[in-house]
Amino acid sequence: MNKQQVTVGLGERSYPIVIQPGVLHLVGQDIAARKIAKRFGIISDDYVAALYGDTLLQSLADAGVGAELVTFPRGEASKNLQTIATLASELAGRGFDRGDGLIALGGGVSGDMAGFLASIYMRGIPFVQIPTTLLSQVDSSVGGKTGVDIPEGKNLVGTFYQPQAVYIDPDVLKTLPEKEILGGLAEVIKYGVIWDADFFNFLDRQRGNILALREDAVIPLIARCCEIKAQVVEQDEREGGLRRILNFGHTIGHAVEAASGFSLIHGLAIGIGMRAAADLAVLGGHLAKEEAARIRRLLEEYGLPVIIPSTLDRTAIKQFLLADKKTIGGRVFFVLPEAIGRVRVTDEVDKAHIDEVLDRA
Ligand code: GLY
Repeated sequence: MNKQQVTVGLGERSYPIVIQPGVLHLVGQDIAARKIAKRFGIISDDYVAALYGDTLLQSLADAGVGAELVTFPRGEASKNLQTIATLASELAGRGFDRGDGLIALGGGVSGDMAGFLASIYMRGIPFVQIPTTLLSQVDSSVGGKTGVDIPEGKNLVGTFYQPQAVYIDPDVLKTLPEKEILGGLAEVIKYGVIWDADFFNFLDRQRGNILALREDAVIPLIARCCEIKAQVVEQDEREGGLRRILNFGHTIGHAVEAASGFSLIHGLAIGIGMRAAADLAVLGGHLAKEEAARIRRLLEEYGLPVIIPSTLDRTAIKQFLLADKKTIGGRVFFVLPEAIGRVRVTDEVDKAHIDEVLDRA
């Protein structure tokens, strides 16, 4: 079966995630049938718009749905309030009103920005996610987090605002740079550690097929990640508690990413953060050494870095740790595995242990 569908169950705001090779060519019919909006602004960066914009426009046109591309320059540097203002003016100038909607076409930057814009344009219009990177397909397009960066930090301004539907086309991964695939795979491994030991084993067994992007491995992989994310979001949409487990690897990972000046891409930094969190859990007596070794081994077998580059300043990493937006009341929270498939969230971590795991080779 080469099509799978997962539902995010949030009562009246429930929505489907459709995972299907070639869905980018077919999506118009489904969007038309759902009667989401009379016309769509497709929010995309110039690079992704050039790759897939025409295909999406054609699919929508074939289904009788009006749509226009509204693009911004590629890259995280665009993810700011100024771009939101520019895009809003563009939509207003083209007469987009409350009956219209947005489609996010692209990776996390497009999804976060289109979602944020949809949540505030005319006090809220519907939007659809069409994620085109592995990271956005398994994580950021699902669950309704939207936002932009400000000079003080990433994603510090944003909303919770759920899409009407998510369409995932695994075929688009074939044009994705290998580093981006690896970054996405770090978040995939995250789901195994935080929630599902069988999925962790699947990732171990199917590594060759997954890295070769074989459909019969990649479709169930994406579907399982979306299912886990849906289950977590259904229980804790606004990150009051459980949803924080999705930040496994992110406490140290974000600090490493920031200390690298973002030259280390997010997913790769998260891989390092997961290894460090597993080691912290062992030092704190929460996790068996062998389990931490299995986590590290799987990351390494996928070709993910697990140690912090020696060029990165440890003091800077620790400063970023304290400045993390997930800090609450000055307390730094860590998601620590208790076993593969189960984690706990705690701020009770020995400072000496943090130094030790940052320096571990
Ligand atoms: N990426 C983590 C979350 O959506 O909560």
